[in-house]
Amino acid sequence: GAPQTRTPTGATTGAPATANGQQGAFLTTSQGARLRDTDHSLKAGRRGPVLLQDHHLREKITHFDHERIPERVVHARGAGAHGVFTAYGTAEAVTRAGFLAKGRSTEVFVRFSTVLGSRGSADTVRDTRGFATKFYTDEGTFDLVGNNMPVFFIQDAIKFPDIIHAGKPHPDREIPQAQSAHDTFWDFVSLHTEAQHHTMWNMSDRGIPRSYRTMEGFGVHTFRLINAAGETVLAKFHWKPKLGVHSLVWEEAQMLSGMDPDFHRRDLYDAIEAGAFPEWELGIQVFPDTPEETFAGIDLLDPTKMVPEELAEVQPVGTLTLNRTPTNFFAETEQVAFHLGHLPPGIDVTNDPLLQGRLFSYVDTQLTRLGGPNFSQIPINRPHAPVNDMLRDGFHQQAVHAGVAPYRPNSLDGGNPFPAGDDENAFVDVPVQVAEAPKVRANPASFDDHFSQARLFWLSMSPVEQEHIIRSYTFELGKCYHQAIKERQLQCLANIDPVLCAQVATGLGLPAPEPTVPLADVTPSPALSQVGRQWPAD
Ligand code: HEM
Repeated sequence: GAPQTRTPTGATTGAPATANGQQGAFLTTSQGARLRDTDHSLKAGRRGPVLLQDHHLREKITHFDHERIPERVVHARGAGAHGVFTAYGTAEAVTRAGFLAKGRSTEVFVRFSTVLGSRGSADTVRDTRGFATKFYTDEGTFDLVGNNMPVFFIQDAIKFPDIIHAGKPHPDREIPQAQSAHDTFWDFVSLHTEAQHHTMWNMSDRGIPRSYRTMEGFGVHTFRLINAAGETVLAKFHWKPKLGVHSLVWEEAQMLSGMDPDFHRRDLYDAIEAGAFPEWELGIQVFPDTPEETFAGIDLLDPTKMVPEELAEVQPVGTLTLNRTPTNFFAETEQVAFHLGHLPPGIDVTNDPLLQGRLFSYVDTQLTRLGGPNFSQIPINRPHAPVNDMLRDGFHQQAVHAGVAPYRPNSLDGGNPFPAGDDENAFVDVPVQVAEAPKVRANPASFDDHFSQARLFWLSMSPVEQEHIIRSYTFELGKCYHQAIKERQLQCLANIDPVLCAQVATGLGLPAPEPTVPLADVTPSPALSQVGRQWPAD
């Protein structure tokens, strides 16, 4: 028999094409029985008790009682939109990914988010923003799960529960809701000094974007690209907003948190509905795939480091246009499930230890958040490529799989899905050399440099941006109750830049410590400054 396929629109043989609960002119139960009344429960007489036998009452209330699902453990607050990605073909030399071929258009769904706040928190708080894109390519879904900052707090995923525990509200009082103005956050980042670079981005104007439409996006990690000839390069992904990069000032952000906590999602949806479709260019920085996996002395496997654009140009490879708002927030924005392992042929992962842990974490959390192993069948998560898998049964199974032999190859049905010589479009893991090395719980030595790129970022800022950074460190640290934590963070600032440290220390009314490490000798990167930032540069 023919292989079983699940189409994007319907899972199955025999099931109705839609199950959206909105068919026909009359109100019905979930079983399709037409109702006469949905406002009165069935009672033993007009003044009597309600009867247990009232199926409609119980179905209506029971379903309501179970409407909520757990919010995401991080990035709970978000807003999504549909769009299209059109490729220029400029990436064809480095990757065989079909969706990057010249002129190819691919449907996408993007979800923007804050990291730390709960689902009902305000949009304009100081935080990193998520920028997650699902490309429904015809070679399988590609998820680019990035942020609006090019670096991350930690170098190893094993610390992710720790940094999030430190950043989420204190366990005793559950405050503050969604700011970095508290003791545990500063305790963590001053003890785990690899976090200092990302923290500086948070304290800069990048932590309070004007709009999702004016944010850059970054894949953060280094990926490995493979072209049709099997040649590989290392690469970093960038999103560049056509409107340029713009931020709020802190006073605006604070006022908006009270006056319009939905400011960013309103801005996104108003723009799309007015036809002012937000646009980004996707770009890649490309590096030779050398055994050291470094570029210009920067370790490409260290997610706390970025590569200045002056050293490796961001090459445009296509345009993303968001042109449609969700029909239903829950069905689309809440139920969408991103995962770094969703890769098309031509894009592969590297050994970045943060990336490696993420490959495990997302699907693991989604098993709980979306109630079992079949969430790839939820409409927003369905691939737009034919699916022919051997995954069977489980909670919320929508498919009615035919056939008797859910294993391959078999001799009973399904034939041979691996015909010899016809695997051109299949995903192939790049056979990179895995080091002959002892098992060890340790990082490469280059990961010990925690301050040089924070200094690079600081020295690349314009005077007004530096002033904002000083003020935000002062404001946020000023909210800490523990002086020892403020002092430890000042020590980190001293190791980044004595001027920055002195200014923040003055604001806090504390002495400025001397550096404990030599100040890094770095060349500023003008491209890091937001001021006058337009891309491509005119
Ligand atoms: C969610 C980005 C690191 C675990 C997200 C989302 C984004 C994101 C954008 C929201 C996805 C959505 O809109 O549904 C990043 C970036 C990282 C990073 C750019 C570093 C470069 C990590 C690490 C872990 C992790 C190291 C765990 C070890 C999670 C989890 C979720 C999440 C569990 C919730 C997913 C869900 O419930 O569907 N991340 N993250 N992230 N991230 Fe990360």
